[in-house]
Amino acid sequence: MKDKIINSFSNDLKALVDNMIINDKKVFVTLKAENSNQAKEFEKFKEECEKKIRDFNLFDEINVTFTTIKRKFSKVIVVSSCKGGVGKSTLSVNLALSLKKLGKKVGLLDGDIYGPSIPKLLNINKKPDVNDKKKIIPVKQNGIDVMSIGFLIDEKKPLVWRGPMLQSAIMQLINDVEWDFLDYLIIDFPPGTGDTQLTIMQKLKIDHALIVTTPQEIALADTRKGINMFNRFNVPIAGIVENMSYFVCDNCSTKHFLFGENGGEKLAKEFNIKLLGKIPFHSTIAKNCDAGTPELIHNNSDLNKVYLELSESLIN
Ligand SMILES: Nc1ncnc2c1ncn2[C@@H]1O[C@H](COP(=O)(O)OP(=O)(O)O)[C@@H](O)[C@H]1O
Ligand SMILES: [Mg+2]
Repeated sequence: MKDKIINSFSNDLKALVDNMIINDKKVFVTLKAENSNQAKEFEKFKEECEKKIRDFNLFDEINVTFTTIKRKFSKVIVVSSCKGGVGKSTLSVNLALSLKKLGKKVGLLDGDIYGPSIPKLLNINKKPDVNDKKKIIPVKQNGIDVMSIGFLIDEKKPLVWRGPMLQSAIMQLINDVEWDFLDYLIIDFPPGTGDTQLTIMQKLKIDHALIVTTPQEIALADTRKGINMFNRFNVPIAGIVENMSYFVCDNCSTKHFLFGENGGEKLAKEFNIKLLGKIPFHSTIAKNCDAGTPELIHNNSDLNKVYLELSESLIN
């Protein structure tokens, strides 16, 4: 279908197509422009694009936007699961910390606009500065450049987004932030498979998705939806990380599989993707995340090793 649509475009328009995503009756197209002035000049191509797609009479929603951001990231990695509470944010932060340890310049974008938890996890209480171009400068914490919608909203008010607000909040996170050049941009991806996720995929070319799950069957069921979404939009999956895999108690030093065993393996086999690692359920992780001191987790040599190995497998 995609090829059919693009073939109907004029050659000039074809040359501008950066990305096209078709999801049921919705089409999302990103066109390339050098800057916002050029995007204005290219308005006629946007109109042509919308008209040509409309002529197919197949879609309820046609969404054509320009991408003007010059890519400042070598690699964009999203940490995703379709379910909340499986440890996405915890993994995002700890992965960022170990990539930093390996000498990489790392940015962390809290894309979970429904429940931004990165500011709390990293104990960031200040608001980001704005530069003279009115761009937001990410907050530096533990040597990582961090941006979260949590910096821009009132923490005490519940987050109730309506469609357009949600869209503009995400666009602000993507377009209005002045990132330094980064080796890795890690995105804590919002749970679900809706328009929010699509917008992020449309706007930021994602190099790899890292799928987090717990071994429980219920988490696996949701995770399958997430894997299918990335497959549908041709986002390569770097692998699966099984979180809360087992618990080692102080007294008997055997592994207790609280949520079942080998859920990650099962999923990896089912989708033919790699199982990159298993993170134990550990009070050091929970305690330090609550305290906003995730860097202390890495003083535990076993946990440090788990996160470093994960980072190394991402780098390779
Ligand atoms: N491996 C782990 N061991 C112990 N606690 C964990 C572990 N991973 C996550 N947690 C805790 O579980 C809760 C949910 O994790 P979080 O990263 O916020 O999940 P998500 O971002 O997927 O909603 C947090 O309180 C966190 O501290
Ligand atoms: Mg989270």
